[in-house]
This record gives sequence, C-alpha cells and structure tokens, in this order.
Amino acid sequence: MPPTTAPGAAEVARVQLPGAHAGLPGSEIELPVVIGSEDEHAVDVGRLRDRSGYITLDPGFGNTAACKSAITYIDGEEGILRYRGYPIEELAESSSFVEVAMLLIFGELPSKERLERFRGMLTDEQLLHEGMRYHFEGFPSHGHPMAMLSAMINACGCYHPELLSSEMDEERLLRATATLMSKVCTIAAFSYKMTMGRRMEYPDPSLSYCRNFLHMMFSKPHRRYEPPLQVVRALTKFLILHADHEQNCSTSTVRMVGSSGANVFASVSSGVCALWGPLHGGANMAVIEMLQQIHAGGDDPRTVVAKVKDKKFRLMGFGHRVYKNFDPRAKILEQTCSELLDVLGVSDPLLDIARELAGIALTDDYFLERKLYPNVDFYSGIILRTIGIPLNMYTVMFSIGRVPGWIAHWYELFRDPDRRIARPRQVYVGSGKRPYVPMDARG
Ligand code: ACO
Repeated sequence: MPPTTAPGAAEVARVQLPGAHAGLPGSEIELPVVIGSEDEHAVDVGRLRDRSGYITLDPGFGNTAACKSAITYIDGEEGILRYRGYPIEELAESSSFVEVAMLLIFGELPSKERLERFRGMLTDEQLLHEGMRYHFEGFPSHGHPMAMLSAMINACGCYHPELLSSEMDEERLLRATATLMSKVCTIAAFSYKMTMGRRMEYPDPSLSYCRNFLHMMFSKPHRRYEPPLQVVRALTKFLILHADHEQNCSTSTVRMVGSSGANVFASVSSGVCALWGPLHGGANMAVIEMLQQIHAGGDDPRTVVAKVKDKKFRLMGFGHRVYKNFDPRAKILEQTCSELLDVLGVSDPLLDIARELAGIALTDDYFLERKLYPNVDFYSGIILRTIGIPLNMYTVMFSIGRVPGWIAHWYELFRDPDRRIARPRQVYVGSGKRPYVPMDARG
C-alpha cells in the first residue's frame, strides 16, 4: 500500500483493502499523509479501524511512527544525526554536555546567562537527601548499578513532591532537569564506591559537570583525582553523543510510561530499565566482554566473523535498526578513542581487535547485504575502559548521557495537547472460546 502522494501532491494515500472475510468491507479508502519537515512521509492510520475494521501489525515498530517530534532528526541512509537541527559533529566538537542538554529539552542553545543559572541549579542539586543514603545501605554490595540507578531515580521523586505536580511549567522543568542530571551522577558514583567498599566522595560544587563526576568516581580521601583534559573532553563527547536518539527502545518506554500521566522521575527510571538490555544500551558492556573473550582465547577475528555468519552469535556493537550506512556517533567515537589512547600514551589490544573485526566485517557480503555497520557501542566501551570506568558501569554511563533526551521527550509529550495514553492493539492468536474444565476432569 504505497502512499500515492509526493511533496506538493494531494496529501492522502489510497489503500486497497481486501474484503469478504471477517465481515470487513473490501474497498479503497483514502488516508491522510503526514509530511515531516525533512520530507518524511507517513500514512496516518489513526482512523483506519473506525473506517474499515482493519488494524495494522508491525512487530518491533520497524515501520511505525509513534509520534510527531521536533527534538532529533536521523537519516539512517545518509548517516545524519541532528539535535534540534544542529549536526551532531558540530555539537560534539564545540559544545558542552550541559549546553546540549538545554538545547534538547528547551529547544534552543542557551544564552550565557541562562547557562550560568542552570549550572548553578545543577550545583545546588548535587547532594543526595540524607534519607537516600539509607536506600544505598539496603542494596547488596554486588547489586547491579543499573538496578540501583533505576530504583534511586524513582525514589528521588519521593524527596521532590513539588516536582511531581501535573502543573509542570518551564521553571519547574528546569528544576526537575537539574535534579535528575545532577543526582544521576551522584547516584552512579555512590553505587560504584559502595561496590568497591570505599568511602563515598561528596560532590565538589566548584567543578564542572564532567569533572565533578570524575572526582566523585576516582578521588580518594588521601588523593584527589585531577583528570587530564583529554579525559574530560572524551567523556564530554561520549555524553553528548548519547544524549538523544529519537524513538529508540528506552525513549519509547519513557514516552509510553509518561503517556499515562506518570511523573518525570518514574518515566526516566523506566528508561533506565529498558536501556539495560544487551540489544540496546547494554551492548557497550557486551562489546567489551566479547573483545575480552576473543583476546583471552587468542581467536583469529576471521574465525569470529565466520561464526557470526553461521549465526552462532551476534557481533555486538554492530547493526542498527535505523542506520543503514554508518552510525555518525561511531565515527566520532572511533576518532576520540584513538586520540585519547595517543595522548595518554597507552595502547589497548581490544582496540586493535575491534578495528580488525570492523575491517573484515565492512568488506564481507553478509554484513554488506544486511547493512550492518559499527554502532555507537562498538568503540564507546574502549573509551570508558581507558577512563577507568568499570565494566558493569558502562550502561550507567550511557544512562547519564541519555537523561536529557528522556526528559526532552517526556516534556514534549507532556505538553502535547493531542496526547493520548499509549495503548497498542494486538492480533489475538490464542485459543477460541472453550468451556471451563473442572479440576477432577483434567488429564
Ligand atoms: N551480528 C550479526 N548479524 C546481525 C547483527 C549483528 N550484530 N545484527 C543484525 N544481524 C542480522 C540478523 O541476524 C538478521 O539476519 P537475517 O536477515 O539473515 O535473519 C539481519 O541482520 C537483520 O537483523 P534484525 O535483528 O532483524 O535487525 P534489528 O533491526 O531488529 O536489530 C539490532 C537491530 C538490535 C541493533 C541488531 O543489529 C543487534 O542485535 N545488534 C547487536 C547488539 C547491539 O550492538 N545493540 C546496540 C544498538 S545501538 C543502541 O541501542 C544504542
């Protein structure tokens, strides 16, 4: 059912529907076509069932737009990614993570004054309520930091009832954003220190966002950690590149939860859970585990690729639902990774293996035919490893980066006058009606 419209033509799609079964009418109907600002065409099926009795089926939503959004634009064929119209390459090169967060959430790059005010709010929100310290004590020391992060973000809402109100205006949103962005760093660093059995370092209000996080992670009571500039820069790029990616699994989860009217803390906390899986944000951890295994086993990357082609396992950090040419974030991170290792004067055998795998895969028909390229997670783990972030915190780092994107989408939905609770339909394939069988009569 291809839409029959082109830009400038009548904005309808004519769809031929088969009839004569299940009592549905067979006819041609016209459906409106929505055209996005980058000329994307979508057939609006919102009234299809009312008008024809048909629903649509699209498992995994590979072909379904769940909303209209003005936050992030991706052209997967051309490898384009823009936040609010600004190319990711320019933002990664020139801006700070805090600036990018404000751009995503409020729609414009902040003025100097507005940025300074927001930085002040971030500083104000760095400390956790003393009551939250007790929550940490309740977790086992081997607990996964993603579980702690999700639980603690949700718990944050209990300490900020003023931010749960359905009267969320821009000033309240600014406060909620500062609270979430600051607290995730403190929670992440606290959970790391706890699993290490070390004393928790308090945040330092004199430091910038990235430096403060590194301080809370790596300073010790007797030795303050002073990160090299290149480390701060690499972390900043990492966070900017992870800040948003339109309707991915975790962001769609945030929107789904938010659509019921759930508050921003509950919604963002659900995003952390969705991100955790190895097919999504958990891939950054899975990539390093895979590279470590290859390294430890001394496997030839060619044999590894052959096994992947035999479907024995997936090459983690490869492939993407949307990018079918290259992932611009992976390009930037590969370069950032090389620069970081060069400046620090370290070499990492895992980077050599990653490059070798990518080199083989990028010329192999299996990968070319399926349009599988390195994604953002392929090189990001090597950067995190070089910075000293432990493996089980990689997806937490992704979450810290993604918080602004989740908030931006939550707020866009919150303000949408046409918002409806997200409630997909299903095609039922279970048993037909049957009578209840009493216990004695069951085989
Ligand atoms: N290694 C080997 N083969 C792959 C890979 C891979 N990484 N990814 C996809 N394929 C193959 C599939 O086996 C399938 O082959 P077939 O047509 O012969 O059956 C084909 O490519 C299409 O794969 P799908 O699973 O249908 O693609 P989908 O768009 O549903 O999945 C995903 C995208 C989840 C990212 C997938 O490519 C994958 O599992 N990659 C590895 C995990 C990963 O790196 N995830 C991070 C994604 S980026 C992010 O979320 C931040």
